[in-house]
Amino acid sequence: MIKHNFFHVRAMSINDTEQFQAIEKDAFPDLFPETNFKNELNRSIASLITIGIDTENNKKKEILNDNYLSNKIPLYRQGYTGWHGKKDFLVGIAESWNMVGETHIISIGVRRYFQNKGAGETLLLNILSNSENPIVTLEVRKSNQPAINLYKKYKFQIVGTRKKYYSDNGEDALIMTIESATSMKYKGFIEQSSELLVSKENQ
Ligand SMILES: CC(C)(COP(=O)(O)OP(=O)(O)OC[C@H]1O[C@@H](n2cnc3c(N)ncnc32)[C@H](O)[C@@H]1OP(=O)(O)O)[C@@H](O)C(=O)NCCC(=O)NCCS
Repeated sequence: MIKHNFFHVRAMSINDTEQFQAIEKDAFPDLFPETNFKNELNRSIASLITIGIDTENNKKKEILNDNYLSNKIPLYRQGYTGWHGKKDFLVGIAESWNMVGETHIISIGVRRYFQNKGAGETLLLNILSNSENPIVTLEVRKSNQPAINLYKKYKFQIVGTRKKYYSDNGEDALIMTIESATSMKYKGFIEQSSELLVSKENQ
């Protein structure tokens, strides 16, 4: 498991469904239909992971921002977070499928308020380090520069386009792929990157 100093990563459980739905709505406001995460949990090839804050034990309370957790700042759906004050406040979710010959990244999403804090990168690092397939692939909106930058940072290359892939606005998808995710060289790169991420957070 790739670590993050402040957040922790774990597998999704059935109790996380409401927060998963809220995170998806926050990170992908235009997505329709929404994902049925209970069904996804039962999908044998699916791996669902989440990154969150242990609100009981975490010492760095300031990043939690009381205003955010008590819904005092405007958020999607009048502050609906799907969190009911139990232990883990989840900030990001990721789903990948272990398919024949490739790992397919279905989505990575981080609550808007918690973006740019390394959560998305940590989720991606976990998928990559756990991939049993050398090939890891995904589709991303042509206009989604933050996500494209994240994938390029991890050496994904654009290998094709799916024309009008997204039905909401007819946008094209870029197909981005890595072909050597299980090589020693790439594993070393992942390890170094994760150490760098942790050291950046310590600064
Ligand atoms: C894309 C997304 C998952 C990135 O997660 P994040 O936690 O915000 O990003 P991180 O802090 O981990 O950033 C990691 C890298 O992503 C890229 N990145 C992230 N946000 C960016 C931004 N606003 N502009 C440009 N590049 C960005 C950078 O390469 C960054 O590395 P750097 O810090 O060394 O520059 C997040 O922005 C998100 O949920 N977006 C909405 C949903 C989505 O589009 N998901 C991806 C499609 S499946």
